[in-house]
Amino acid sequence: MRLLLIGPPGAGKGTQAVRLAAHLSIQHISTGDLFREHIAQGTELGQNADKHIRAGRLVPDEVTVGVIEECLARPDTERGFLLDGFPRNPAQAEALDGILADTGSGLDAVLNLEIPDAEVISRIAGRRLCRQDREHIFHVDHNPPEVAGTCAVCGGELYQRDDDREATVRRRLEVYGSETALVLDHYRAQGLVTTVSALGRVQEVLDRALAAIGKGRVAASGTSSN
Ligand code: AP5
Ligand code: MG
Repeated sequence: MRLLLIGPPGAGKGTQAVRLAAHLSIQHISTGDLFREHIAQGTELGQNADKHIRAGRLVPDEVTVGVIEECLARPDTERGFLLDGFPRNPAQAEALDGILADTGSGLDAVLNLEIPDAEVISRIAGRRLCRQDREHIFHVDHNPPEVAGTCAVCGGELYQRDDDREATVRRRLEVYGSETALVLDHYRAQGLVTTVSALGRVQEVLDRALAAIGKGRVAASGTSSN
């Protein structure tokens, strides 16, 4: 399957993407995670991306599209992929259409995670990430590790993202409203968008998402095509 996961900062894209990709045996590709890896390694691309991420702005399209193009050319995406955080504006969506057209493939579905801003602020304020594995995501209240500050999966150190300060989160939400929401219109015109409520427990959201793409075991409450 070839899927996109779209939703505001803190909607739970990363949390759900790890589970969906494992369930569907497809590659999880998060542009945010890829940029954070470049930043941690101190590459030139990472230094460039870091300035934009700290300011809550999008990283320039030529950089972002290049990163995605490279990922989608890898053999491990042949069985399918789940893009988390890309595309984030109409120009990126058109670039992705072009990349997929060149390979003769298209998208199967676009999952839109819907969540109120107030919930986003609370989820991001309590988020903690593992330094050793980008896919280990915790929350101090909703999904706390057994030992505070330590990853419950691998024992890595937990940290808070630099762009998770409230002022930056509000800027990221503005960018989402002004640019990324337009991506949904792009895919609605192709009949691909399914909206899923991101409220409720992680497993409930996962069940809804799987049902929305026809891979679930349960009825899709809180799901709509639009
Ligand atoms: P990116 O890393 O993609 O950040 P984002 O879109 O702002 O989303 P987040 O990762 O903050 O949230 P999430 O939806 O993944 O939520 P999570 O699962 O962690 O991008 C960062 C930056 O990189 C951008 O601002 C931009 O500068 C740049 N960038 C990235 N892609 C780009 C692109 N395509 N073009 C240009 N620039 C780009 O969950 C959040 C918290 O909630 C966690 O603590 C989690 O435990 C908790 N939680 C999750 N689900 C639930 C639940 N059901 N109930 C309770 N708590 C929950
Ligand atoms: Mg994320």
